[in-house]
Amino acid sequence: MNILKNKKILLGITGGIAAYKCPELIRLLTQQGAIVRTVLTACAKNFVTIPTLQTLSNQPVYESVWDGMDSMAHIELSRWADIVLIAPTTANFIALLSHGFANDLLSTLCLATTSPIVIAPSMNQQMYLNNLTQSNLIKLKNNRFLIWGPGDGIQACGETGPGRMLEPEELLENIHQFFAPKIMQNKNIVITAGPTQEPLDPVRYLSNYSSGKMGYALAEAAFTAGANVTLISGPTDLTISNEIKKVEVLTAEEMHRAVFNHLDDCDIFISAAAVCDYKTDNVATSKIKKTDKTITITLTQNPDILKEAANYYPKIIRIGFAAETHNLLENAYKKLEDKNCHMIIANEVGKDKGFHSNDNQVSVITRNNNVHLKKAAKTEIAIQLIRLIHETFLREHSLAKC
Ligand SMILES: Cc1cc2nc3c(=O)[nH]c(=O)nc-3n(C[C@H](O)[C@H](O)[C@H](O)COP(=O)(O)O)c2cc1C
Repeated sequence: MNILKNKKILLGITGGIAAYKCPELIRLLTQQGAIVRTVLTACAKNFVTIPTLQTLSNQPVYESVWDGMDSMAHIELSRWADIVLIAPTTANFIALLSHGFANDLLSTLCLATTSPIVIAPSMNQQMYLNNLTQSNLIKLKNNRFLIWGPGDGIQACGETGPGRMLEPEELLENIHQFFAPKIMQNKNIVITAGPTQEPLDPVRYLSNYSSGKMGYALAEAAFTAGANVTLISGPTDLTISNEIKKVEVLTAEEMHRAVFNHLDDCDIFISAAAVCDYKTDNVATSKIKKTDKTITITLTQNPDILKEAANYYPKIIRIGFAAETHNLLENAYKKLEDKNCHMIIANEVGKDKGFHSNDNQVSVITRNNNVHLKKAAKTEIAIQLIRLIHETFLREHSLAKC
């Protein structure tokens, strides 16, 4: 049966350029049997027409709290919706929502509804990166709003960066995932994310460019799929849903300790952190002074968390990442063997690739398969990865029973 059949989706459209994609989104949703009612902000009417939305949805389109319903439109619609999806969501509307404003139909029904509200941010990259927008988004996240996207790339204004609304097909995929049975229900998943920092002296450390975005996206996707998630994170400026347990660490050794404190009841361990391979044993107690032309720092290997997990917890499904600058697949297969894990997710990294981007493209390597996931927002890749990890979990458990 189609998961979306008769699901009531309230699509809020705000005044961003990506509103031109909404008719296509409505077409995709209605093709799957969903019932879509649309609410427009006044500004959105400049980007998309009511007759188009009405024709494609075959449902009334609403614009004002005074729109003709027997009772109050904002209350009726807020009760009607199984989910409220606001796509595109402008910077302005994010600000309104995060401050609890109710000055038009869409913002008012968002306050009135008990249904989940999803926003798909869409704006110029500077508007998105602006501290005010970022703190508004954090506020929404902490108030149980779901945030899908944004993607990275060329924007309507000609700039390049984060702020693109997810494509209609990606939003459809997310809605599917949202209504799909919770495949990870009752599974305990431990995920590591971000870099580690290895101190050299009181003011310096060794680290890497990892942003943590992929690990955080996996944690959210696993949580949406029903898992109990523990996220063990190196230093990042990212936030995570309140329902996900987060343990903050700095060094590889701290991460090692935190992971092994959480593996006893764990079903799946995803090692997405970029753990520093080396540290110095002799952390200087005072700042290293600029004296000699060259200095030598001796580095020793950090513990290999994934490999040790395989030794001590062979029953846990173990997933690793391989961020490589060259020979991607060759190195990934080698890592699969070396670390004795069930899956390696391999991606190319370099100065402008992988780490800080909101997008990713990966190869998913298991002993008998190699799947390529094409470039998409990390949040999208995470959903696909959780599905593949679940398949691996089922396969390994059925093999174990044979
Ligand atoms: C051509 C054009 C495109 C715009 N695109 C965006 C956009 O993609 N994202 C955004 O946040 N604002 C965009 N704006 C600015 C919003 O339309 C403006 O902030 C408006 O107040 C949003 O109103 P609303 O949030 O009530 O719909 C655009 C404005 C114009 C004129």
